[in-house]
Amino acid sequence: MNQKAVLITGCSSGIGLALAVRLAKDEKKRFMVYATMRNLAKREALEEAAGRTLGSTLEIKELDVCDENSVKACVDSLPMRRVDILISNAGMGMIGPIECQTIDEMKSVMDTNFFGLVRLLKEVLPDMKKRKSGHIVVISSVMGIQGILFNDIYAASKFAVEGFCESLAVQALRFNLNISLIEPGPVVSEFERKVYEDGLKIDLSKADKVTADMFTNIYLKNYNQIFQSFGQTPEDVAEHTFKMITMDNPPFRHQTNHLYTPMTTLKYEDPNGDLPIETFYKMVFEHDKVFNASLNFLKLLRWRSRKSFSLEKDKNAS
Ligand SMILES: NC(=O)c1ccc[n+]([C@@H]2O[C@H](COP(=O)([O-])OP(=O)(O)OC[C@H]3O[C@@H](n4cnc5c(N)ncnc54)[C@H](OP(=O)(O)O)[C@@H]3O)[C@@H](O)[C@H]2O)c1
Repeated sequence: MNQKAVLITGCSSGIGLALAVRLAKDEKKRFMVYATMRNLAKREALEEAAGRTLGSTLEIKELDVCDENSVKACVDSLPMRRVDILISNAGMGMIGPIECQTIDEMKSVMDTNFFGLVRLLKEVLPDMKKRKSGHIVVISSVMGIQGILFNDIYAASKFAVEGFCESLAVQALRFNLNISLIEPGPVVSEFERKVYEDGLKIDLSKADKVTADMFTNIYLKNYNQIFQSFGQTPEDVAEHTFKMITMDNPPFRHQTNHLYTPMTTLKYEDPNGDLPIETFYKMVFEHDKVFNASLNFLKLLRWRSRKSFSLEKDKNAS
């Protein structure tokens, strides 16, 4: 059997966990999944979800993307160091006014989200080039193409990822390699909870009153509603990623959430870049009631589509 070796980072929760399990449970057993995490003490959730695939099409390994030695040790431990599909998923978020964040905190986001990917590629890319085969899949974000209020550093880290991959993609073509950026909108995972809780704890004393008020009474106030209205599940994103991996000619970019597409389209509509910035400004500061009503409407649509989906399922079952 010609199984592909898949290395995934950040599999202790969320998208990484869902994707590792989705690939390991592939009916045709096309993948041998090396599901990695930086802290093996957190392996229980993955073990439980993996079920019988554990030790068969899924193995759990340690890998901290912020540590070059850990990346190397993990790749060295694989049979013939072979990685056919690399899924760079590990990441962290950060929200808040930059006046209230330290440079060390910012560096940690860049180190995980951007240099984490670079460390992986430095280890895996040369072998892929030699073999002239491989697929590099990067879990980016819609914030890799469009900045969002109070996500300055996180968006910067994902822009870095996108610029890096776009540059590398040309070289990759020469070696018959594919690079794909998966761009989810909001996803309801540990990430969302951690980011929100950290946001609530921020010491806003270094920010002026207008900024502090904007962060607390506009951004944080709407945070949960945005995730409830737009949010996908990690399993949804895993399904999109699975499709990209199994395609013959995967595209370079793929957005997983069609509800978010109108926002990113604004960016491509105006080469001057003013359109998305002005639209976001108006949405947040001038039409906040319309914005809230739209979120409620989206929530209703999502609820109805979930309802009809489950009815459909029940009908099939009977
Ligand atoms: N959630 C969203 O709204 C959203 C939207 C767009 C894109 N994304 C992206 O999707 C990816 C996965 O996020 P998620 O939503 O699934 O969040 P999550 O449940 O918090 O998962 C993040 C994973 O990354 C791991 N990680 C963090 N630092 C690491 C390091 N130094 N080395 C190895 N692993 C590390 C975490 O491990 P620990 O458990 O040890 O912390 C965890 O397993 C991230 O790249 C994120 O930027 C998320």
